Amino acid sequence: MPMGTDSRAPRCTAVVGLQWGDEGKGKLVDLLAPRHDVVVRYNGGANAGHSVVVNDERFALHLVPSGILAPGATTVIGNGVVVDPARLLEEISGLESRGVDTSGLKLSDRAHVVLEYHKAEDGLREDLLARGAAGPRVGAGTSQEIGTTRRGIGPCYADKVTRATGVRVGDLLRPDALRRKVELACTMKNALFAGLAESNGIEWAPFDPDAIVRTALGYGEHLKSRITDTTYLVHDALAENKRVLFEGANATLLDVDHGTYPFVTSSNACVLGAGPGSGVPGHQIDRVIGVMKAYSTRVGGGPMPTELHDATGERIRERGREFGTTTGRPRRVGWLDLVALRYACMINGVSEVAIMLLDVLAGFDTLRLCTAYEIDGVRTDRFTPDAEDLGRVTPIFEEVDGFGQEITGVTTLDELPAGARAYVERIEAFLGVRAGLISVGPDRAQTIIQDPALNAPAEAHA
Ligand code: GDP
Ligand code: IMO
Ligand code: MG
Repeated sequence: MPMGTDSRAPRCTAVVGLQWGDEGKGKLVDLLAPRHDVVVRYNGGANAGHSVVVNDERFALHLVPSGILAPGATTVIGNGVVVDPARLLEEISGLESRGVDTSGLKLSDRAHVVLEYHKAEDGLREDLLARGAAGPRVGAGTSQEIGTTRRGIGPCYADKVTRATGVRVGDLLRPDALRRKVELACTMKNALFAGLAESNGIEWAPFDPDAIVRTALGYGEHLKSRITDTTYLVHDALAENKRVLFEGANATLLDVDHGTYPFVTSSNACVLGAGPGSGVPGHQIDRVIGVMKAYSTRVGGGPMPTELHDATGERIRERGREFGTTTGRPRRVGWLDLVALRYACMINGVSEVAIMLLDVLAGFDTLRLCTAYEIDGVRTDRFTPDAEDLGRVTPIFEEVDGFGQEITGVTTLDELPAGARAYVERIEAFLGVRAGLISVGPDRAQTIIQDPALNAPAEAHA
């Protein structure tokens, strides 16, 4: 997809989630990929689940960038990603068996490797937290459990910053270095977790470094042809005036620094992670598209001010099929939180938003938008990302007209019912950014494109 000569579109674009994940980033990246030469994942791991629907065929991508479905795509799993090689290989062979060309998929030699012990540790920590075995609760009005995907994400990032035990993808091709690191990690982890598990009656088998090293070397063998210095790969592409699309995984309110800590994931999931996670300086990113759903969802623990626990929430969950792409868990559902969204737009320096799943809200007489919080009797329009504080806010809602008709077949703004148009305009006005794209169904075709720069050339999707 040689798009390097088209002078209209920005060179580097980032697509980031503005809420708690599952905003529809996969669909948007798939739409934009034909306008780009390289698509780069820069954070997260197999905790992500990005769905793309093409001609009624659904693809669920976890580690592989969603740009893979664009013919001729170069896709990159950058150094900031934590890679579970078993899942990656499974995903690649699943795509290939469905006729997807994965030859352009490259993997950073500096990405960190999720090993068996990271997944076990993730599960053990969650089990301990769920039992209340580890001490007092960590968030107001919530359980101790973070509700992770148990994919080993936190423990792998922890090893990365702890350093000596961090295994990088390049180590899968270096048996001696790999063995040294895995043996050290197993010694430390066995000592740390055996006692903790036993005192809490949790079954625990010590890790066997030999078996882990053997399996990991096998993964290295299978992935060898894809492993490279992706930092140079992306910079070489930029030097040739090619276009790069950064695909954020997880989302801003799950960002380890700027999200609702401690109920977050373990990486910088907002655009600020794109630089360190790819090696491209942030100032080279000249367009940031914030992806948002027309309402709120969240999976796992942590505060969510606009959460609905009633029949309305159930109806939105059913209409939006709000069940996790990665874990199958029902997603928590709530009204749109504009206070949180405006904060997320600020953190990401968003150029425009893409409003997804608007069709899900059809059929409601009225809709609600959260435009302020009340905390300790004081009204504010500022978001508070700390879970303790956010757990105490009361949302202040503005009620607006709903829209009756289904809109899944609508392709232009003018065809939208007045209520839907007004809803979009209210969002734009509150956030101070325009909606470059409005999505009214999972398929590529179910999209209202307002910003011509987002319009993919038709032949690219042939
Ligand atoms: P991501 O993690 O941000 O890529 O989002 P997910 O793929 O986990 O979740 C979004 C879900 O909504 C997927 O099942 C998509 O197929 C679906 N989807 C995306 N856009 C729309 C839309 O406009 N309307 C509807 N009804 N579904 C959509
Ligand atoms: P995509 O890319 C929704 C949530 C988990 C949990 C918390 C920490 O599909 O939008 P982790 O396994 O990362 O340690 O879990 O973060 N979480 C997501 N929720 N979509 C995601 O990714 C998520 N990635 C992590 O549910 O609450
Ligand atoms: Mg998802």
